[in-house]
Amino acid sequence: MTDAPSEWRPLHWTGESLVIVDQTALPDEERLVECRTIDDVAAAIREMRVRGAPAIGISAVAGLALAVQGAAREGGDWRRALSAGEALLASTRPTAADLFHGLQVARERVASAVDAAEAAHLLGQLVLELLDRQWAIDRALADYGAGLLRSGTRVLTHCNTGALGTGAFGTALGIIRRAYELGRLEHVWVTETRPRLQGARLTVWELRRSGIPHTLIVDGAAPFLLARGEVDAVLVGADRVAANGDVANKIGTLGLAVAAERFRVPFYVAAPLSTFDPETPDGNAIPIEERDPAEVLRVKGTWIAPADTPVRNPAFDVTPHWLVTALVTERGIIPAPDRRKIANFLAANGRG
Ligand code: MRU
Repeated sequence: MTDAPSEWRPLHWTGESLVIVDQTALPDEERLVECRTIDDVAAAIREMRVRGAPAIGISAVAGLALAVQGAAREGGDWRRALSAGEALLASTRPTAADLFHGLQVARERVASAVDAAEAAHLLGQLVLELLDRQWAIDRALADYGAGLLRSGTRVLTHCNTGALGTGAFGTALGIIRRAYELGRLEHVWVTETRPRLQGARLTVWELRRSGIPHTLIVDGAAPFLLARGEVDAVLVGADRVAANGDVANKIGTLGLAVAAERFRVPFYVAAPLSTFDPETPDGNAIPIEERDPAEVLRVKGTWIAPADTPVRNPAFDVTPHWLVTALVTERGIIPAPDRRKIANFLAANGRG
């Protein structure tokens, strides 16, 4: 892993393990965790040691590679190990399309493998390929997105969509990084992102490393800043884009989209093609992960409400496509997305 903030990458495939920067330890500690088995990878995804849709997708492929390596070592049935591995990984986090896309790409890669050794080799190669490809995807997406921003732009972003979320340059945060490189970015408003605080803990950490000027706000402050004219564009990522353009993203995104529309601020969603799911017809069909109530009841280990308080903790919400000013992908921009435009765009880009 390189330390230069401009090229830094939080995921590393050694050939026999996946080394990740433990995102639950940041920003207090930059701790590396080595996942040597598929169970390690599944636990890291479930516990959000690795998180963000593209990073989850690549990690899942690494998990399958480790499962098949295990079968190769122990003389087990590698196809059975692969299917069991897919089922395990699919059960970790249900919302991010990239996870399922990664599983499908892995399955296709080994379809004609003759034995466990060959399948393990092919999957290891695939992990390296995906890590490299993600960098190219993120950079291309960042260029398209930065093209939407005028000089002096003040952006508001939610959750974490940076290097940590993709294993490469980042999506929405990649656009922010690119706009800053181009001298177009004046300031970033970062929402705290309750309950896991990805904005406060991770996005602030990444922006500091890149020297990009930013201010942290509580989630509830965002509409006020939009109303006051202190935000020129809202830029967020996505966990799944349905066939009609509805977008699942971190809980709190929908409120930002509603406020942005009301106060006439453009609302951009950055998503690589791996996040699009043409099989999911619309936002109502996107499975939304519900997480442990303890995430709401405790902040960094401190209880903030009685332990038996009833809690609802959806990890994501769905923003209807008609609130999205444009989707930004590595292949270009889809303004005012709808079912027809998305179908044409995916067909033109090999994901029809
Ligand atoms: O629950 P998380 O932290 O995995 O949610 C992440 C997001 O909502 C991101 O916006 C999305 O995955 C894109 S990351 C490039």
